[in-house]
Amino acid sequence: MGDKPWGGRFAEATDRAVESFTASVALDQRLAGCDIRGSIAHCRMLARQKIIGEQEAAAIIQGLEDIGRDIEAGTFSFSDALEDVHMNIESALLDRIGPAAGKLHTGRSRNDQVAVDVRLWLRDEVDGLIDGLTALRRKLVALARTHIDVIMPGYTHLQRAQPVRLAHHLMAYYEMFARDVQRLRDGRRRINVMPLGSAALAGAPYPLDRDYTASLLRFDGVSANSMDAVSDRDFIIEFLAAASIGMMHFSRLAEELVLWSSAEFGFITFSDAFSTGSSIMPQKKNPDVPELIRGKTGRVYGALVALLTTMKSLPLSYNRDMQEDKPPLFDAVETLSACIAITIRMLDNITINRETMRRAAARGFLNATDMADYLVGRGVPFREAHACAGKAVAVAVQKGCELQDLTLEELKRFSDHFDQDVYEALELDRVTDQRNSYGGTARERVLSRIAAAEKEIDEE
Ligand code: ARG
Repeated sequence: MGDKPWGGRFAEATDRAVESFTASVALDQRLAGCDIRGSIAHCRMLARQKIIGEQEAAAIIQGLEDIGRDIEAGTFSFSDALEDVHMNIESALLDRIGPAAGKLHTGRSRNDQVAVDVRLWLRDEVDGLIDGLTALRRKLVALARTHIDVIMPGYTHLQRAQPVRLAHHLMAYYEMFARDVQRLRDGRRRINVMPLGSAALAGAPYPLDRDYTASLLRFDGVSANSMDAVSDRDFIIEFLAAASIGMMHFSRLAEELVLWSSAEFGFITFSDAFSTGSSIMPQKKNPDVPELIRGKTGRVYGALVALLTTMKSLPLSYNRDMQEDKPPLFDAVETLSACIAITIRMLDNITINRETMRRAAARGFLNATDMADYLVGRGVPFREAHACAGKAVAVAVQKGCELQDLTLEELKRFSDHFDQDVYEALELDRVTDQRNSYGGTARERVLSRIAAAEKEIDEE
């Protein structure tokens, strides 16, 4: 069986069902560019170390570059019978340049080859995701700046709690996405380690210069244990964990936009271009985009759990099970990347209904804590002040009015520390700007965090 690179010891052709069951080329062909980059670097190193001849190396590199061009042009045909992207390319190389092609695989195995390919691929994808998340952070900061004077209810338990600036709320997501970027950057350091030279599992009997290969491929270093290098997929699992956390953040933002666009909240309106209709209810305008973002979160969590499960209990070193790392990885990268891009566009397709937000913040006793804080300012212990304000709320509920609608006379029944200036203390903007502890929602605080974030992004 000469047609398969590993065909030497086989007398029988592979069963077609086995070929199609084991083939991964339909999916892993997206690694082709990285496979070729890795092979060219390996080949240059082999020639530099005089393990293969200069001329052979030149022919191999030329052949690989041609194949790369054909793949990019879409004129290369991948075959299931050749299992995966690595064997497809190697076999094409043999067709094109003849027996010299056989020297490329010196000191290498598909086990370190696939590891280097995925690392190169994921490194680039992570860089793209970081750029996307940073564009989103920029958008959030810009929105926060434009809407610095919009006040809305802040919630706990989904009950109106205290007024906050919409800008503060948006900047909360800025912080989440900034941490997502940090997580991706940190994981990238462990992705960016070069496995080539580990060969099948035990290393290679040639004078390889692994550092040289690593420098050609811009890796930060080389793996220290060949068995680990061919069987480690924790760099992918870590990525999937970071991607899952990122999707969790996207799902929370998406959920808030779904809520805010409902008639019940009315805080935002989606443009028609970002809404869809109902085939039966003529009046419907549905927020399908954020709903789908929410829904797609499950796929990425699924990818994380799938790979954790695939890797669980696998004995060292490489096992074919590990080929199953690719569907979840590719799907998670695609999903996260699509969610980043659509979220940026979605934020451009929202009208903020600032009056509705403000009205909602002005009703429902969101200034009750401030009434208590007012009394604290007059020397009343906080617990006692809390109780007085609580009684005031109860009376206001009964009368169907807000705290500031109670007369000073009524208030004095709860505490004789109340004075005319309490009304100023209960005023909405005042209440918001009062929260000027570091990290709080006061205008000046939010503006200074916005400025710091802008600087942070510019300096990255
Ligand atoms: N397609 C394989 C994978 O993705 C490449 C490595 C195959 N190695 C082997 N010894 N069969 O894991």
